[in-house]
Order: sequence, then C-alpha cells, then structure tokens
Amino acid sequence: MAIVLVGFMGSGKTSVGRILARFLDMPWVDLDKKIEKEIGMPIHKLFKKFGEDAFRVKESQLLLKELKKDVVLSTGGGVVIRENNRRTIIKKSEYCIYLTSSFHVLMRRIRKNKKNIRPLATNNSYKDLEKLFEERKVLYKEVATIVVQANKSSPAIVAKEIMQRMEKA
Ligand code: S3P
Repeated sequence: MAIVLVGFMGSGKTSVGRILARFLDMPWVDLDKKIEKEIGMPIHKLFKKFGEDAFRVKESQLLLKELKKDVVLSTGGGVVIRENNRRTIIKKSEYCIYLTSSFHVLMRRIRKNKKNIRPLATNNSYKDLEKLFEERKVLYKEVATIVVQANKSSPAIVAKEIMQRMEKA
C-alpha cells in the first residue's frame, strides 16, 4: 500500500517524499511528474492549453493507479479537492501524511522557487491564495492519518519525524 504525502503548494511534499522513500527503501513517485510524463508537457502548459479540469481528470486517474502500488507518493496540492480522490486516499493508503506550514512560509517558498511554475500561484492574488489555503486545510485534515509540522525543519528532519510517527501509529 502507498504512503501518501499531502499539503499545500510549497509544503515540501516532493523533497520530503524523496528522502522518506530512501529511508524506507521504497520506490518514490511524484504524481505531478507522472502527469507531465504522460501528457508530454509541463503542468502549466496543460493548464493553459486545456484548462484546470483536464489536469484534474489526469490527476485523479493517475492517483488511482499509483495508490495500487507500494510506493511513497508525493501528490500535488490540489489532489484533495475532489471528494472521490479523498475517499480513495482514505481507503487505499497505508498512511497519509499532511505536511503543514504557515501560509507566509509557503508563499516565501513558492516565490523563491522560480523553476517550478505553479499556475495557481501565478494566476491568483495573495489574498485568493490565502483563501484557498484556508479552504484546503480542512480537506488535508480529512484525509490525513499523520500531521507533521514542516515549517522550519529541513526535509531530512521532517522525514525522520514521519518515520518515528509511523512507528507509533
Ligand atoms: C496544484 C499544485 C501543484 C500542481 C498543480 C496544482 C494545486 O503541485 O499539482 O499546479 O492545485 O495546489 P505542488 O503542490 O507540488 O506545487
């Protein structure tokens, strides 16, 4: 069964997931990268050409596929929007880890990372993103079995904490 990482953009799902998989000696899958590989273009181009809905359809399809495997799965921040995805994560994951951070820390990280073009971060105002962050918090909590603070610590420290929490769970 998969170990799933969820959280808002910039919360460290990718960097923590990669290290966690190494610690657990499990394969690591990044859902956004899978989507990009399958559609043959970066996510921001898919958003521009076919719209967010087209992205969400692919995201749901690949989520279902990857949840059938024994992998550490880093998801995109919006994977919890669809109720069906949330239900599937709850039913089919071994652990679901929610990486929390304050909105300000996340925004700083998003803005610093110029290589990763996030369509929702570029197309929305600061205020709209804050609203999205508040709305999604509830959804992340709904699917999570473990909640980990990822505000200040390095990805390796966060991954270690996740390991300890999984042992206790
Ligand atoms: C999204 C987050 C992105 C990516 C897409 C949509 C979202 O992933 O899936 O741009 O809706 O929050 P990250 O959370 O890895 O940035």
